[in-house]
Amino acid sequence: MDKQRTVLITGAAGGIGKAIALEFSNQNDFVYVADLNKDAAEKTANEIGGNAKGIYLDVTNEETIQTAIANIIHERGSIEVLVNNAGLQYRAPLESFPLEKWNLLIDVMLTGVFLMTKHVFPHMKKETYGRIINISSVHGKLATPEKIAYVAAKHGVIGVTGVTALEGAAYKITANSILPGPVKTELLMKQIDSLTAEGKTEKDALEAIMYPKQAMERFIEPEEVASGVVYLASDVASGITGEHIKVAGGM
Ligand SMILES: NC(=O)c1ccc[n+]([C@@H]2O[C@H](COP(=O)([O-])OP(=O)(O)OC[C@H]3O[C@@H](n4cnc5c(N)ncnc54)[C@H](O)[C@@H]3O)[C@@H](O)[C@H]2O)c1
Repeated sequence: MDKQRTVLITGAAGGIGKAIALEFSNQNDFVYVADLNKDAAEKTANEIGGNAKGIYLDVTNEETIQTAIANIIHERGSIEVLVNNAGLQYRAPLESFPLEKWNLLIDVMLTGVFLMTKHVFPHMKKETYGRIINISSVHGKLATPEKIAYVAAKHGVIGVTGVTALEGAAYKITANSILPGPVKTELLMKQIDSLTAEGKTEKDALEAIMYPKQAMERFIEPEEVASGVVYLASDVASGITGEHIKVAGGM
């Protein structure tokens, strides 16, 4: 595509989302850094520079989503790329997993992906162009103990991606998911901290997080996930849709 694309990334204030935002802006795309944490989103956008804007967006709230998208369309005219990245983790044995946490994780990481896609889709259809990349996880394909809501949400994202790919195909909208392995972000460090607080050594905590064993025996860098996202959004990936690609070092 010749014109500067507009990229909307959820949960982009830090971690993987920030790396994705940087990668798109390096390619001269215009990036909306959308996050629940508006101050952090604006800070990240300022760090990125001229072709980024930080905005408040709660992916669980349909009204906020509609307002944010309407504002972007007013400012930029179109949205070419949507990256559904917002997420969080909560770990507990299933028999004591609080319903409130189940609902929150499903709302953010599954319903949020649906709602964002639902409201960006008509604008992409109008342009007959779109790239939707959903950040699932290796947990989109495998189960780990004590992560019932996360695993359910990330498996759900695979299904949502498949339906989006089928309904988007006639409009040149591609939809794919990226399944990262362990990346050292706040989301992951909180898990390591809680495991060490339970008495595990850091080494045991890391092994528990890395379960099952990962071939490369190292963390994935946020930039490695971002490269996969930018590739799927690129013109050379125009024939790839409905795929679920692991960036996980062989997990
Ligand atoms: N870190 C990992 O090891 C790992 C592995 C696989 C997949 N992922 C996925 O990558 C994505 C990014 O995770 P991360 O590790 O960078 O985490 P992170 O905690 O660093 O970033 C997540 C961001 O999402 C935002 N967010 C949370 N709820 C939101 C909501 N309702 N609306 C908008 N924004 C919201 C947070 O404010 C935060 O900025 C998540 O979907 C996560 O599940 C992470």
